[in-house]
Amino acid sequence: MTEKEKLIIFDTTLRDGEQSPGASMTKEEKVRIAKALERMRVDVIEAGFPVASPGDFEAVRAVARAVDGSTVCGLARAVEKDIERAAEALAEARSARIHTFIATSSVHMKAKLRMEPEQVLEQAVRSVRRARDFVDDVEFSPEDAGRSDIDFLCRIIEAAIDAGATTINIPDTVGYNVPQQFGGLVGTLRERVPNADKAVFSVHCHNDLGLAVANSLAAVLAGARQVECTINGLGERAGNAALEEIVMSVRTRQDLFPCNVDLDTTQIMPCSRLVAGITGFQPQPNKAVVGANAFAHESGIHQDGVLKSRETYEIMRAQDVGWSENRMVLGKHSGRNAFRTKLNELGIVLDSERELTEAFERFKDLADKKHFIYDEDLQALITDTGLAAENERLRLLYLRVCSESGETPNAEVTLWFDGEERATSASGSGPVDAAFKAIDAVVATDAELHLYSVNNITSGTDAQGEVTVRLEKDGRIVQGQGADTDIVIASAKAYINALNKLMQPERRAHPQLGDV
Ligand code: KIV
Ligand code: ZN
Repeated sequence: MTEKEKLIIFDTTLRDGEQSPGASMTKEEKVRIAKALERMRVDVIEAGFPVASPGDFEAVRAVARAVDGSTVCGLARAVEKDIERAAEALAEARSARIHTFIATSSVHMKAKLRMEPEQVLEQAVRSVRRARDFVDDVEFSPEDAGRSDIDFLCRIIEAAIDAGATTINIPDTVGYNVPQQFGGLVGTLRERVPNADKAVFSVHCHNDLGLAVANSLAAVLAGARQVECTINGLGERAGNAALEEIVMSVRTRQDLFPCNVDLDTTQIMPCSRLVAGITGFQPQPNKAVVGANAFAHESGIHQDGVLKSRETYEIMRAQDVGWSENRMVLGKHSGRNAFRTKLNELGIVLDSERELTEAFERFKDLADKKHFIYDEDLQALITDTGLAAENERLRLLYLRVCSESGETPNAEVTLWFDGEERATSASGSGPVDAAFKAIDAVVATDAELHLYSVNNITSGTDAQGEVTVRLEKDGRIVQGQGADTDIVIASAKAYINALNKLMQPERRAHPQLGDV
């Protein structure tokens, strides 16, 4: 780092990112992503909303235990029970932050909280004080600040800092602001709040108008020194500001920014792939920095220019963000120890020797089908263990599909369902359709299929296909993933993974919906 000020990168993939419908993650998946963020040297990892459910609590606690190099943060509404639960989940973190929030726009105060501004202010102060009983590092967010009255914002922020808040986060909760205005808002707050110099100003922008990154950067130019963002821009509705875009903008335009980030940017691509693999939300090909085409030059003129001098058409180096050739990590002859060591390097810690043995067997099967095994293959192999579906009720035991030109494809499946083996068959318009129909014949869920997509994990025709399936039932959306060198098998695994999630009861509270 130069002597420039530091821009704190606060990643909320595990909290706001997880609020995207269908992106929910298991405890193990959250720990893997947190370890990848830690390897990237992200400053703060918001691990979840502990009061939401016992599962959310355990996930935040597991991340707090697993991470040493980054501060681990838990979200809490401005109420005592949330703050106490967050403190409990974070108790074993090496460095812990409680992030408490309450809405300040008149529409939110009237329609959602049904509270007067003075009550909101008092509750904010009480909550920040309570959080300070547990940790020294307390963040306060006036939710929907982007649509709040500026005088009220100044008062509540001043009071929150007096009560002990060390970070003041300004959320554009509904993505309504535009850059000049949002930068202006942050600049005005820093000028008008008398004790503004006692806290770090942060921003948290949503992407409803496609302006989350632009708004965040305008705020940085106006003095914000923390940006809240997510990998691949995952998040509620249209998502949050994308971490990779914020970080690379600040790095690439050091001529403009008075601050710098202290991250290992070569970890961006591994992290992006990991989050996409776990959530099933693949970045679009033309997505900045991490999209498949971000560094591809198709037109002859561009290629010629890039070959003569990279700077003609490239402002960043692909390798600086981790776009290297897929690295062969293991092969058919690799032993159990090499396998375990590689998993550890990838931040994957299996809970027991039995899990390691099962994963190693799957690795050996894969190595029989596929010559080179890359990091991405291992990530998919672990995601696809069935570990992703704790308490799973359904498992694929056998699948055979017949497909030939001029004939209707037919699938035979054997499933394990609630402890019983069930065999069935069905025909369909294609092999995947036939396989799904055969599975439906055993588990009649009447879920609606909203999305089916296949991606190759690495290159080559022997690559594993990674399938994502999104299902909806009674307003609840879940996503399932499956990977295999045979894409029909990958599809069946993804479908079964989604059905398992749909069959789990949902008991988690959403931090921003309903009363405090
Ligand atoms: O968008 C938002 O306002 C939030 C808050 C909880 C910070 O996510
Ligand atoms: Zn948000």
